[in-house]
Amino acid sequence: MNRFISSSKYILVVLSFLGFHTGEVRNSHLAKSPQRFANQVVVDVAHRTAAISPTMFGIFFEDINLAADGGIYAELIKNRSFEFDDPLMGWSQPASNRWSNNQSSGFASAINRGADNPNGHFLQVKVRSDENYVLMNEGFRGIGFKEGMKYQISLEAKVEEGNPRITLELLGSDSTVLGAQELMLTGKEWRNYQISIQASGTDAKGIFRIRFHGISVVDLDMISMFPSDTWRGRKNGLRNDLVQLLADLHPGFVRFPGGCIVEGRTLEQRYQWKKTVGPVEDRTTLINRWNTEFSHRSTPDYFQSFGLGFFEYFQLAEDLDAEPLPILSCGMACQFNTGELVPMDELDPYVQDALDLIEFANGPATSIWGKVRAGMGHPEPFHLKMIGVGNEQWGTDYFDRYQVFEAAIKSKYPDIRIVSGSGPFAEGEMFEYGWEALRQSKADFVDEHYYKPPQWFLDHAVRYDSYDRQGPRIFAGEYAAHDPLATDPLKKNDWRSALSEAAFMTGLLRNADLVQMCSYAPLFAHVDGWQWTPDLIWFDNLQSYGTPNYYVQKLYANNRGSHVLEMNLDRKPMTGQNGLYGAATWDEKTGELIFTLVNTAEGMQELPVHIENARSVSSQGTRIDLRHADLLGANSLMDPDLIVPEETMIPISGVDFTLALDGQSVTILRVQVER
Ligand code: AHR
Repeated sequence: MNRFISSSKYILVVLSFLGFHTGEVRNSHLAKSPQRFANQVVVDVAHRTAAISPTMFGIFFEDINLAADGGIYAELIKNRSFEFDDPLMGWSQPASNRWSNNQSSGFASAINRGADNPNGHFLQVKVRSDENYVLMNEGFRGIGFKEGMKYQISLEAKVEEGNPRITLELLGSDSTVLGAQELMLTGKEWRNYQISIQASGTDAKGIFRIRFHGISVVDLDMISMFPSDTWRGRKNGLRNDLVQLLADLHPGFVRFPGGCIVEGRTLEQRYQWKKTVGPVEDRTTLINRWNTEFSHRSTPDYFQSFGLGFFEYFQLAEDLDAEPLPILSCGMACQFNTGELVPMDELDPYVQDALDLIEFANGPATSIWGKVRAGMGHPEPFHLKMIGVGNEQWGTDYFDRYQVFEAAIKSKYPDIRIVSGSGPFAEGEMFEYGWEALRQSKADFVDEHYYKPPQWFLDHAVRYDSYDRQGPRIFAGEYAAHDPLATDPLKKNDWRSALSEAAFMTGLLRNADLVQMCSYAPLFAHVDGWQWTPDLIWFDNLQSYGTPNYYVQKLYANNRGSHVLEMNLDRKPMTGQNGLYGAATWDEKTGELIFTLVNTAEGMQELPVHIENARSVSSQGTRIDLRHADLLGANSLMDPDLIVPEETMIPISGVDFTLALDGQSVTILRVQVER
């Protein structure tokens, strides 16, 4: 048994020579005259240093790594409406050959409806033989089928000639038929068909097949398939297991839709929220900027269907009881790509998009955009309180544009708080320049990003201790420790990265007066379709798991508390002495003192703890530990629970006790205290 496991039987040393006994302590005079020990942790429950914002720990959502299409958006058919650059991408017609005259069984062609039509293409199938012609869809790196699950299929069809019949089939990866149903197609007008097929087996790499019978000409569009177990059973819904992982985090906010995806490689390819609301079939498909971003992870089949659009993002935030935080283009394309700018005198439509979005979220159902929201089934407002202008922009071009947005938003909606950005750099000239401009502007929130090695996170646990308290509040909007020692891309979410983030986050918590939001990034990654790693949650077509970094986020978000308390180790904040990091908070709702402690040292450490100004302390505390002996250890689809929190009840001997922290561990301790 390794030393971490053997030491996991939490050593609680009762300081009996102080005269304390296990059980409630009501001798408040004892609490006020503590004995001091070397390395003693002292928490003063009467000294609150800051209120913690309910938005403190949130989530950053971006459609990168197949996070939306192929991920949380539960649609199983790739290129369902034939709108990719190659309209037949994702589809195959094995009995036919596009490049020769061998089309005796039949052939499908994309028909262009014209550039003005948001649903630009449909498929025309000429069936030339009675039985042989088939069309297959490969899904997103395969289609996940679960035994017993029903799959809801819908499609639009119009019959040009003949009396066609089709068989819709769920196939396993070895072509075994897992379910099938026949459909007669009729009528010369577009008609919607809906059927449900139950899968008789489980396969993560299944295929969808349509077999055509009867010589005919058929037009097809919006061929769509969802599992019946979507989140809250919604149509056009989200993948249940992935939303559940988010719900378990109890996030304070949901930032969407990114990330660089907001900006686009070009302005033309920026995220335009108005094109993502209303009927799903009218949402214009757009290339995903991560399609071409990394040549070593080229993803030519990555497009945005916008089935998960702004309405669905707002609804997700509402479901999670989190504040929505949409981020919009500020008229600058990604500066790592083209850096295209909209001229200052043509910025109006971009600013109008921001104003209209606030109306879409909050306006009455009688307003122009409130009516669109109501038409989608949500007459009540979404109570939007914050909006982001630009993602990772830098330089004067950004601040010139930001100021125009700020003036327009604040004049029409003075209560909306605006998130601005300090760019992609965590320090340096452009970072300083940006901060100065935003300070001058009296910006509400500055979004800082840092993707850095684990040591940087340890060294920067004190980052915000010295920040100006009079300036803008902080949104640590994208961060993740990138461990250069983790060589397998799927294992970059190793324990070292998570532990260093945990240590850093004690600094965020301690500075909760200033830091009011933070989020790990990116959120999701498909094991067969990622472009960027590390990521918080990984999945394939059937399964998903949280990384150790996920469990760190979960521990912090679920044990946030309402106020920061003064906590010192040897009379100084716990910011790395002997590899120890920590913060203490108070939970006003439950009357609990919460310790968040990180031991980055290899060995176990015993900490004498003293609670000051407590009238009584409960005789038990809830202790949650996240620990692992191997810093390169990581969870995986095969071993999703290698590094997960363990919860126990432990005895608390009174206002003085000793807490043993395992080497390389994160510990939460919740203790009921009467002040
Ligand atoms: O999280 C991945 C990317 O990192 C985001 O899109 C961008 O904002 C940052 O550069």
